[in-house]
Amino acid sequence: MRLRHALILLAVALAGAASGAFAAGDPARGEKLAITCMGCHGIEGYRNAYPSYRVPKLGGQNADYLVLALQGYRAGTRSHPTMRAQAATMSDEEIQDIVAFLAAQGPAQAGDVVTGGKAARGQEKAAVCAACHGEAGISSAPNWPNLAGQHRDYLQQAITRYRDKARQDPVMQAQAATLSDDDIADLAAYFSAQRGLFTTRN
Ligand code: HEC
Ligand code: HEC
Repeated sequence: MRLRHALILLAVALAGAASGAFAAGDPARGEKLAITCMGCHGIEGYRNAYPSYRVPKLGGQNADYLVLALQGYRAGTRSHPTMRAQAATMSDEEIQDIVAFLAAQGPAQAGDVVTGGKAARGQEKAAVCAACHGEAGISSAPNWPNLAGQHRDYLQQAITRYRDKARQDPVMQAQAATLSDDDIADLAAYFSAQRGLFTTRN
């Protein structure tokens, strides 16, 4: 218990060092607030019902990005109905607490196993993504999501939704506008196969 507490404090200190904005989050309060979240994000292989894709991994994702994602659901710029319902009544403080808890999760897990062919094609296509998401899917700014090791089907549907303007973000909509379904499948295969920083299976 003591060790776990010390590890959480260390993880929070490290996260805080990377992004001063999150020093305020209280992981113990966040753990209580996150109980309902774990009903989906804590269950290995848990799928969104329709369309069917795995819920995104959160543990180890960039903390600033997780805050922006939750604020996006709260504001409605991200439209997933369950996540909008989850975030609708959250205060900024509750978001910080939950993210502090998520940032302190362990242990690390490898990404999905994918077939070599598509990932290899995706590597070439991913050159245009590197400026922001890094060559191997570790993003260059803390408010941009890491893609390395994220679930392949989640990445695939996220990019598709930007392309189809169902997920609102001007930067990513422009990036995805000209991608074919094959391009998206290859990119998702490539990034999901990279060694990620995610610390949880879900
Ligand atoms: C009923 C299942 C369910 C529950 C409960 C749930 N989520 Fe989610 N969550 C999802 C799904 C599905 C997505 C992907 C939605 C999309 O495509 O935008 C998601 C996406 C997210 C994202 C965006 C991740 C990214 O990479 O962009 C965050 C952050 C998140 N959830 C946090 C939470 C938190 C915090 C809670 C609890 C307060 C919670 N979720 C509860 C199913 C759930
Ligand atoms: C100019 C910077 C930039 C470039 C280039 C870029 N992205 Fe992004 N990407 C972002 C930002 C910012 C977000 C967060 C948007 C949001 O909040 O929805 C994002 C989000 C994403 C997400 C959602 C991750 C999640 O956890 O929900 C995926 C998937 C993604 N990008 C894939 C790509 C791919 C594939 C390419 C190349 C074809 C690419 N991006 C190029 C900036 C960029």
